[in-house]
Amino acid sequence: MARRSPTYHDYLQLDKLLSCQLPPSFESSNNEETRDLIHHEELLFITMHQTIELWFVMALADLSLARDLIGRPHESNREVPEEDIPKACNLLQRNTELFKLLTQQFTIIETMAPLDFLSFRDKLIPASGFQSWQFREVEVLAGLSESERINFEGKAYFSEMPEEHRKKVEKRVTEMSLRDAVLTWLARTPVDKAFPDFVETFLSAHSKYIDEQITHQKNNPHLGLEQVARVTERFEQSKADARAYFCEGEDLAKQARTALVFISTYRHEPLLRWPYALITQALEFEEHFRLFRFRHARMVERMIGLRVGSGGSSGVAYLDSTASQYRIFGDLLHSVGYLIDGSRLPKEAPNADILRFKFDR
Ligand code: HEM
Repeated sequence: MARRSPTYHDYLQLDKLLSCQLPPSFESSNNEETRDLIHHEELLFITMHQTIELWFVMALADLSLARDLIGRPHESNREVPEEDIPKACNLLQRNTELFKLLTQQFTIIETMAPLDFLSFRDKLIPASGFQSWQFREVEVLAGLSESERINFEGKAYFSEMPEEHRKKVEKRVTEMSLRDAVLTWLARTPVDKAFPDFVETFLSAHSKYIDEQITHQKNNPHLGLEQVARVTERFEQSKADARAYFCEGEDLAKQARTALVFISTYRHEPLLRWPYALITQALEFEEHFRLFRFRHARMVERMIGLRVGSGGSSGVAYLDSTASQYRIFGDLLHSVGYLIDGSRLPKEAPNADILRFKFDR
């Protein structure tokens, strides 16, 4: 029997999708004067949240695929197939664009006057974006670890979620995150094979660079003796910090940090170009994810000032602390702070051949 071609309406299940925007307060309001306004503004509030939840569906699908591509390397050779790195880059880039869009959307909700929001706000208490289980899934999948979470009024962040949603978040917690996948993949970069002794060569070039910075400060006629002493101490400390950062601690972390510096320095080599693009995309995704938090906090500040949030948090203060403290690729960004100009290192790695395409494959 021939299959019936779906209509636009059927294919997108628009009946279901468009039947859930009517705000509960519209049904119950019997105040004739404010009813239209309440309906109108609450419709905006509901549509905004629903749109964003729909985009979270896509974000979760993309981020888990990117995590799988980078984190589950081909079993036979334990390497991520080369063609998968551009695919993962594309998925991360799409999520960056997605979070840019979501951030931009807050300008729409800002067309609602704070007093119009107040006219229906009480009805939604204690509901809050805080309970968005998809947002929590995105955070966990991206790599925000449980130990990094800010204490929310002594409650676990999932305590207000129904069991079925909590289970979804808990499942994500047991899975490999995008951060773990990226760091494990980076740590496998064959830095030792391409450049035996890279870490020592880098640290000695870094130390020389710092010495030059100290000399510049000492020759700065605008700095007094005390200031020079303080700046010198800071610079000397950064030498010690660099050594500890690249030589102490867990192997995986040390290798990933070293790989970031190595890939950044030799990013012109053919086999390092896509890895460099992936690192860049990962950092860009995190930047826009953080800007989303920051922008949401600014919108909330305009809408409710310093009031307590509908979910019971301190409101803007809580949101600002998540924006400034929650990190995904913080370790990679920290490594960026130790980069030095490539001209201070050998132009080529001693065994640069392994970083170039082999045409006989
Ligand atoms: C009038 C508009 C809004 C106000 C006043 C507002 C206010 C707040 C407040 C105060 C919190 C902190 C938790 C609490 O105590 O409730 C929060 C959390 C949250 N809101 Fe909004 N919000 C608004 C709109 C939105 C929209 C449109 C989104 C769509 C993405 C959103 C997503 C979130 C998320 C994901 C959280 C959890 C953040 C975290 O825990 O780090 N909010 N919101």
